[in-house]
Amino acid sequence: MIDNIHKWLILRLTLVWLVLSLVVGGLVNYIGHIRLDNHVVDMARAETSHYTADFTAYLKSPTPQALALFSRKIQTLIEKDHLIVVEFYGADSKKVTEAFKSSVAEVETRLPKHGTEFTNTSKILCEKLTLGQEIFMRVFVPIFDDAGLRSGYLEGIYHAPNDIVVQNKRESLWALILVVVVMFVITLALYPLIIRLDRKLLEYAHILALTNIGMLKVLGSAIAKRDSDTNIHNFRVALYSVRLGEKLHLSNTAMQGLIKGAFLHDVGKIAITDAILLKPGKLTSEEFETMKTHVSHGGDILCSYDWLQDADEVVRYHHEKFNGSGYLSGLKGEDIPLNARIFAVVDVFDALTSRRPYKEPFNLETSVGIIREARGSHFDPAITDLFLEQVEALYAEICNEDEPLLHGKLEECIKTYFR
Ligand SMILES: [Fe+2]
Repeated sequence: MIDNIHKWLILRLTLVWLVLSLVVGGLVNYIGHIRLDNHVVDMARAETSHYTADFTAYLKSPTPQALALFSRKIQTLIEKDHLIVVEFYGADSKKVTEAFKSSVAEVETRLPKHGTEFTNTSKILCEKLTLGQEIFMRVFVPIFDDAGLRSGYLEGIYHAPNDIVVQNKRESLWALILVVVVMFVITLALYPLIIRLDRKLLEYAHILALTNIGMLKVLGSAIAKRDSDTNIHNFRVALYSVRLGEKLHLSNTAMQGLIKGAFLHDVGKIAITDAILLKPGKLTSEEFETMKTHVSHGGDILCSYDWLQDADEVVRYHHEKFNGSGYLSGLKGEDIPLNARIFAVVDVFDALTSRRPYKEPFNLETSVGIIREARGSHFDPAITDLFLEQVEALYAEICNEDEPLLHGKLEECIKTYFR
């Protein structure tokens, strides 16, 4: 059970926000890099195209004068654009000429020397190189003659303009901030929605619990009728149990099992024949052995419904005795479940102080004397002591009250412990 749904939800939604921001932000950053690389590739290809047309023309008529003219032209061109070096090779892969941008010529020597060997390909290829924060693109452009044969190739290094790189990084940063903010707003919007759904769920769970409790009362009443008794015994033992459980600081979960068990403690009597159950006189030993089996029959009945599993301890073990002489399992001491030890005291006390077909009710003094005498033999001594400390108050509150009043008190307990 979550005691503080707000704290629980805030923690988890914050985690979801952080994880989503990291994942989507990382994706946005990756896409930004891809966009930048593609943009630089496009610019590098566009710039090299200015050179390939002149080199193709030179290859058709490769005279020394044409080479000198071409070399001068490419040196002029390279000073104006973003290529820092451009080299031209013939069909035999021997360098024909080259040009360097004078202002950044030394950069080429600092660039990583690894790279794809381009010379055997017939496609335009680009390889990204980085130097600190700066981006370079190694470009390979094959050149073909009119017959479609490769007559040479160009190899150059393109320096991506800094303003383009900075602009792209700025756009990526804003996209990242936008992602984080949008994720935060979405997470924030989910908060009241989840809280509302949780409240609805709690309402439905409460309605379901009340429905189950209604069925519990009906079943308890049916058992009481079978035993020629009334609901009032079930109400009294349930109330005595709750009061004693409160003194023992039982958890809500344990208290629920105790209340259910109190209502259904003799459900197994349904399986006992009328001849034994309703016999006016004393049972024979054989009949008593049969009567004892009502606790195991009760456990068998409950095991078919999960919601009643916590009542099993009371139903199956409420006739066990602390010294091990009880039935049906013969459990001893604290091997007997706590709820069963609590219920054993209040069940006997209620039997002593109530009118039964075979006896008049004992007064409080006589009943307390019998309970005290069985301390440590029939009953758990610590629980007996706790019960006897408050027995007068409990007797006054519960023993002689009518059924509607006891029912009202029990409703309050159910509201407290089944919410
Ligand atoms: Fe019983």
